[in-house]
Amino acid sequence: MGEVKINGAKNAAVAILPATLLIDGVCTIENLPHISDVMISCEILEKLGAKITWNNKNSVTIDTRNIHTTKAPIDLTSKFRASYYIIGSMLGRKKEIEVGMPGGCQLGARPIDQHVKGFEMLGAEVTVGNGTIFATADKLVGNSIYMDIVSVGATINIMLAATLAEGTTTIDNAAKEPHIVDVANFLNTMGADIRGAGTDVIKINGVKKLKGNATYSVVPDQIEAGTFMLAAVATRGDLLIKNCITKHLDSITAKIIEVGGIVEDYGDSLRVCCKKRPTKANIKTLPHPGFPTDLQPQMGVVLSLANGTSIINESIWESRFQYTQELNKMGAKITAQGKTAIFEGVEKLSGAPVYSTDLRAGAALIIAGAAAEGTTEIYNLEHIDRGYENIEERFRNIGAQIERVKE
Ligand code: EPU
Repeated sequence: MGEVKINGAKNAAVAILPATLLIDGVCTIENLPHISDVMISCEILEKLGAKITWNNKNSVTIDTRNIHTTKAPIDLTSKFRASYYIIGSMLGRKKEIEVGMPGGCQLGARPIDQHVKGFEMLGAEVTVGNGTIFATADKLVGNSIYMDIVSVGATINIMLAATLAEGTTTIDNAAKEPHIVDVANFLNTMGADIRGAGTDVIKINGVKKLKGNATYSVVPDQIEAGTFMLAAVATRGDLLIKNCITKHLDSITAKIIEVGGIVEDYGDSLRVCCKKRPTKANIKTLPHPGFPTDLQPQMGVVLSLANGTSIINESIWESRFQYTQELNKMGAKITAQGKTAIFEGVEKLSGAPVYSTDLRAGAALIIAGAAAEGTTEIYNLEHIDRGYENIEERFRNIGAQIERVKE
């Protein structure tokens, strides 16, 4: 049986790092994944005036006492999605911020109207244009905000902006992902007063100051854990996945059992094993606690190898089926149209040159390559490095024959 230890959550880390801007002091963050999105987040903080000291590759001490500019470097903020958290944090801390339009994976339209609506309801003026977002406020005052769409990013961003606002903010129809709870726990550890994170109503009682002077450890990455769980099923392997919160993985566990895999739950670790060909299953991606869109491509690899025909309905992103064309190059039989894809299961995949089109597509191709006969060459690794630390070594340690040929 192979063993793998799960790292801190990317999508929590990229929100907690900008959240340190709300502190007028020093804090330490541990269990940070060593990935390029985290590195860029730290670079942006430094450019704004934060002092960053690395204690080891997964722990950083951040001193945010001397934030001296409200212009975030456009070249860096445009590189990834989560740079939009600089807006909520800096509105809270300095009442003004200019950032580049957020970049990130090309998954179809990625509007930010719910973020803007939230900031405006707290009293900010927001101007979007010429590739930048400019937000300013005389002061921020708590309000009742109803989210028209369940949005992870907007929920966190409003929470950030409301932390130091006057009075109470209520977010209704909030997203409930584990990283939302983690950001709220981080802010509360630093002195905020946030209640209800993880439910669909979050209440933020504004406080005058976050004192910092504390250490916080990032929650384990549920998507990374799910990626390895699905790798075990696709390769018909046996894997012990350590350092995860198994409750966060209920929707994936349920689907693995449905396709014929075995999951043993030990609370903070899971054993996943699958000795026979998986059977078909239908999936619809949904906000937490539904099946996560960020595991849809990895599940797609399992279903491409399943006995029978499966259907995936992607309800979050417009174009998250680009990976299916790559899997078809490896012998899969997938027809994708709009937000639906039909997987006619095949008995085996065969190695081929394939292109990673986004982060989770890249993870799916690694799983497909490990399960396939022959050699698979995966290009565009920069997408994968944005979200998975040391991916090839960790797959090698659990039995995959994988090497990085070129940086
Ligand atoms: N949406 C709007 N307006 C908004 C915000 C979102 O219409 O103002 C829509 C989006 O177009 C989408 C849906 O609402 O259809 C959900 O988007 P959400 O805001 O929840 O996504 P996000 O915050 O941009 C985060 C993760 C994604 C993950 C989604 C959904 C980060 C940095 N990114 O994105 O992660 O897919 O939530 O769970 O947290 C990944 O890690 O590979 C990744 C893409």
